[in-house]
Amino acid sequence: MAKKISEKVTWVGKIDWDLRHFHGDELSTHHGSSYNSYLIRDEKVALLDTVWLPYNQEFVERLRQEIDLDKIDYIVMNHNEVDHSGALPELLSHRPDIPIYCTKKGEAILRGQYHQDWNFVNVKTGDTLPLGETTLTFIEAPMLHWPDTMFCYLSGEEILFSNDGFGQHLASEMLFDDEIDQDVLLYEAEKYYVNIINPFNAMAAKKVKQIIEMNLPLKMICPSHGVIWRKNYQTIIDKYLLWSAGGQAEQVTLIYDTMWKSTEKMANAIAEGIRATLPDTKVVTICASENDKNDILVEVGRSKAILMGSPTINNGFSYAIAGMLEMIKGLKFKGKKAAAFGSYGWSGEAVKQISAALAAAGLEVVDDGLSLLWMPDEDAIARCRDYGQSFAAEI
Ligand code: FEO
Repeated sequence: MAKKISEKVTWVGKIDWDLRHFHGDELSTHHGSSYNSYLIRDEKVALLDTVWLPYNQEFVERLRQEIDLDKIDYIVMNHNEVDHSGALPELLSHRPDIPIYCTKKGEAILRGQYHQDWNFVNVKTGDTLPLGETTLTFIEAPMLHWPDTMFCYLSGEEILFSNDGFGQHLASEMLFDDEIDQDVLLYEAEKYYVNIINPFNAMAAKKVKQIIEMNLPLKMICPSHGVIWRKNYQTIIDKYLLWSAGGQAEQVTLIYDTMWKSTEKMANAIAEGIRATLPDTKVVTICASENDKNDILVEVGRSKAILMGSPTINNGFSYAIAGMLEMIKGLKFKGKKAAAFGSYGWSGEAVKQISAALAAAGLEVVDDGLSLLWMPDEDAIARCRDYGQSFAAEI
């Protein structure tokens, strides 16, 4: 159902309650998501973004209940990944003449995706689209998180439309931040940031600072996923400044996989050693094959150091740890220390290989790691504790 969010702006998006995976299987969405589209009705009418392809007909039907499609003067596409542009072909099959305001890169993406010669109007930072009493001002935001991304600001209503920026994969009947559980909201916003925007920290920091310096009167930040920041928009701005600066907590995370519990015992004993040396540091141990990869990455984002452990398997290491290492590399974490550990029965290559992969992922590997033969006995557990203490001393 469409919902009015201010005098001239109505939410006309789609809540996707059942979504559990996004970007293929790259990102888990335990709480579903939404594709937020906004209709601005002033002397001119503008539609901001659409929804994902599977909901294209439902979207256009609902939009039609809200407004005669012939009355739409402009479409603004802040970002053209298919979760926002998927309903464009259906909508434009009814009104192929509507001008689409987007960045030059946005046009290239739409042409590449849909192969249509639509009525594109390219915009840049500072360009405006007067709608009557209100005006849209465009602000390019490249690599937040695609090259085409832009934000736009609606004067009069004092709303920043930020597309994926400040978003959360969170399905909710409630449209506003102050109407839902704050812990869930902030966790989902952080998970979204770490798993999608983290590789582009420098651009995110620059863009958020630019928005702050513009000193825009602000009543709401409307992202394209999740709830609208109405009461706590300063909180999410501050969080973006923190996360984009690589802000870390006093936390160390041990991510491991285990076949017969040897490596798990090592993880627990190393964690004890770290706790003994750094009593004020939060030490988290997580089994990679038993937990959600994207939730683990949130813990990585919060940590100033990580340890990764795996038994040696087939002269290599575990599939779950290999997957985590690939994701850690892709997310381009900076300023984190790291080391490897693991048990083995005969060949024992895992620790050396994981250490190399951590270094290749851009982490500072502080030592050669700890490799133990077979199931750790009391002496070996003591070695793990000692190793945890020496690792703690390095960070
Ligand atoms: Fe929500 Fe980058 O699409």
